[in-house]
Amino acid sequence: MKIFIDTANLEEIKQARDFGILDGVTTNPTLLAREGKPPLKQLEEICRIVDGPVSAEVIALQSDEMVKEARDLSKIADNIVIKIPLTLEGLKAVKILEGEGIKTNVTLCFSAMQALLVGKAGASYISPFVGRLDDISDDGMRLIEDIITIYDNYGFDTEIIVASIRHPMHVYWAAKLGADIATIPFKTISQLIKHPLTDIGIDRFLKDWQSLQDNLG
Ligand code: E4P
Repeated sequence: MKIFIDTANLEEIKQARDFGILDGVTTNPTLLAREGKPPLKQLEEICRIVDGPVSAEVIALQSDEMVKEARDLSKIADNIVIKIPLTLEGLKAVKILEGEGIKTNVTLCFSAMQALLVGKAGASYISPFVGRLDDISDDGMRLIEDIITIYDNYGFDTEIIVASIRHPMHVYWAAKLGADIATIPFKTISQLIKHPLTDIGIDRFLKDWQSLQDNLG
């Protein structure tokens, strides 16, 4: 499973890259607003740090405007992927952009039938939001399972990015179900590595080593 980081924060992206596990970045207008910097410059910086795909979202809602905005965004760097909202206008834009060789990531997916249409439209990526479904007492991971089954049934090439991840169990289920990608906030990436028995084990090894040194004089 590929791991993307879900942030527009340069420090977090650099740290995750240095962990050696980073395959790409997803941003959205909220994440860019959080950084408070000019968004195009920020995206340019992100693309300088990471070789893998970097998703940048369009703001337009009409397909012709989305396409125009996407063409401009794609000039930032070769690894820019255009995030398009999951609407009929969005699907039209996906068809045009993919036809021009501009990769798209269709975002704000909340149902398997939406995902079926995205697969048929030929998007490079789809982003189902598991956390936001869980937030309203639905089952985000069941949606991932459904999309994987449907895409396998018909051989769609669209890669599934598990998005809106809130905790390590979302990542566990994404990997177990065989999702292509999980886009994970920095805090959750850091939580994945932690286990209390690892910390206790290191502590015990260090103490035992020290007592051996002390006994040897
Ligand atoms: C990523 O592509 C999404 O925009 C992001 O994961 C949404 O996460 P949120 O539901 O925590 O805002």
